Amino acid sequence: MKEQLSTIRAAALAAVEQAQSATQLDELRVQYLGKKGALTAVLKQMGRLSPEERPVIGQLANDVRASLEAALDTASQKLAAEAMEERLRAEAVDVTIPGRKVTVGRRHPMYIALDELKDIFIGMGFTVIDGPEVELAALNFDRLNAEEGHPSRDWSDTFYFDRDSRVMLRSQTSPMQIRAMDTMPLPIRMIAPGRVYRKDEVDATHSPMFHQVEGMVIDKGVTMADLKGTLNTVAQRMYGADTKTRFRPHHFPFTEPSCELDVQCHKCGGAGCATCKGEGWIELLGAGMIHPHVLEMSGIDPEVYSGWAFGFGLERTAMRRFKIDDLRLIFENDVRFLEQF
Ligand code: DAH
Repeated sequence: MKEQLSTIRAAALAAVEQAQSATQLDELRVQYLGKKGALTAVLKQMGRLSPEERPVIGQLANDVRASLEAALDTASQKLAAEAMEERLRAEAVDVTIPGRKVTVGRRHPMYIALDELKDIFIGMGFTVIDGPEVELAALNFDRLNAEEGHPSRDWSDTFYFDRDSRVMLRSQTSPMQIRAMDTMPLPIRMIAPGRVYRKDEVDATHSPMFHQVEGMVIDKGVTMADLKGTLNTVAQRMYGADTKTRFRPHHFPFTEPSCELDVQCHKCGGAGCATCKGEGWIELLGAGMIHPHVLEMSGIDPEVYSGWAFGFGLERTAMRRFKIDDLRLIFENDVRFLEQF
């Protein structure tokens, strides 16, 4: 039995010496010291020993167990230390390597222009609202007085989703007037910026997707004088206090009377130059008094309430504001262009 025990000790210590991982050490612990382990198997035979031998062998078995446990503990501490060492080496940070450069983006010139506009209108008590780009033709056309057969409803101009031309990509932000009338309590003062879509070929002044800003006021006793006063103030806030404006008669189905607002060319002061294409004036927006029939269709009594509305292209406004001469630059998102603003 003595030999058995010293063989176990020698084999176990050699195996512990060779072990490469904590798992292997665990396996050895079970193999030698576990309930079904080699040492236990020897101890089970103690009954066969004489009373004199028993304490001697017992003592020896305890020694073997103690030295094995000590060897296992030392080995596992050594392995843990090595693992930590390895981790520290692998995760070491070289503080002398230069940091990675973080490039910070900037606001797009069109959104800079939009934020300025929002500031102006919010300052005058308007609410900014948002609505869907996929719109019902009923709101984009019918309830804006553009009935069946109106040229703007043509398939060659409008992106429809269905054969019966009921669902479309909105071709203007004007349906936001209807959505506001349907959902907001009176009086209403709102602007609604957003994307609109038309079947236009891309060139320096056209894109099938562009942005408009719609605006609307409905209250009791609102007149064309309010329209002119407000829009003149906006033009002056945008282009300077001495900006001259001019209102020209125009036609839109949902306003009556309708007009277009021009600002005197800020470049040449009205004499005519390349910026205003020799006109002396630059077209800013379309506007008008909301047609009584449009109010009626939204359940608003035109005998009690009146209102005005306007709509304009945001790209053109930004291009004028930042002297950008090609619309495509706005959408290309070339950082060399965007970094200038
Ligand atoms: N929706 C018109 C367009 O896309 C612009 C417009 C004109 C909007 C007059 C208005 C308005 O609200 O009153 O051409």
